[in-house]
Amino acid sequence: MIRAKIVGTGAYAPDRVLTNADLEKLVQTSDEWIVQRTGIRERRIVAEGEATADLAVRAAERALASAKLTPDDVDFIIVGTTTPDMILPSTANLVQLRLGCRRVGSIDVLAACAGSVYSLLMGAQFIQTGKYRRVLAIGAEALSRIVDYTDRGTCIILADGAGAAVLEAAEDGSGIIDGDLYSDGKYWELLYMPGGGARHPATHETVDKRMHFAKMKGNEVFKVAVRMFAESTSQLLARHGFKASDVDLFVPHQANLRIIEAAAKRVDLPMDRVFVNVDKYGNTGAASVYVAMAEAVDAGRLRPGDLVLIAAFGGGFAWGAALMRW
Ligand code: UT7
Repeated sequence: MIRAKIVGTGAYAPDRVLTNADLEKLVQTSDEWIVQRTGIRERRIVAEGEATADLAVRAAERALASAKLTPDDVDFIIVGTTTPDMILPSTANLVQLRLGCRRVGSIDVLAACAGSVYSLLMGAQFIQTGKYRRVLAIGAEALSRIVDYTDRGTCIILADGAGAAVLEAAEDGSGIIDGDLYSDGKYWELLYMPGGGARHPATHETVDKRMHFAKMKGNEVFKVAVRMFAESTSQLLARHGFKASDVDLFVPHQANLRIIEAAAKRVDLPMDRVFVNVDKYGNTGAASVYVAMAEAVDAGRLRPGDLVLIAAFGGGFAWGAALMRW
């Protein structure tokens, strides 16, 4: 049986650091409140002129280098992002060009913060069917471009970054065992950006009404997120006869430390087997699980043979989980 296995990971965070103290100057908030309620201490933000594809290319180069592969080896590119450089063409197309890949297929996946698990599992399908040998799966965001820095409900958590994973066909029992993707559109108004699409194309009025910024009912998102995280991961583990105690490392979407802790508690996973880096990067949307996996590899916390669980949750709502043997 062919499985898709992650053989290389890479992450890239833009240089510019935005601390909680910086945010105290922009909105009515405090370092104490942000740390207590989210666990976030600082986040990275793109520079003037920098955008999602720039971050994606850097992360992809690092992932390819760690897999000891070149752009020529890539058979397909998939980019999870909510903040493409442009509506047209796809960011994946720009990555294909900038990396210097062959004329391989490339596509963006929009599943908000679940874009990590979505892109990874969708990329894996091409390998499992035998269609492609290597897929470059990327999550990249410049969420600061759609953040309203007068809205303390969103500007404290959303941030920028990119991560990538090289998926390769493996037949030695390692790789992605299974994964599930879900969505429920009834929650769409809890996290959305109204302007700039076909419903409300950009006009002076949409700009004046601040419709090109993400709107979020954070507390309601929080509650559903914890439930969906716990449900999706428990179901996946149970289906394969695993218990929480079998999981070596859980790498969740880094939205808020309290969401991660609450979900881990429900699944019965101690925090020493949960990877957390939300303190350094905030919520980087579709990038976060990729960035976390890359850092976990570098920290020696993902070793061959480990049972690894990942999960992500975001606007839409869209969410999903995957289980793999590293
Ligand atoms: O990536 C997937 C999608 N996004 C998420 O997963 C985000 C999920 N939500 C969250 O992370 C949290 O809901 C937030 C961090 C956004 C907000 O934290 P919360 O604990 O849910 O706060 P809250 O909205 O319930 O507000 C509690 C209080 C309110 O004051 P009162 O009414 O109790 O007096 C807010 O006005 O905290 C106030 N507040 C703040 N105070 C200081 C809200 N935001 C802030 C702030 N600084 N930034």
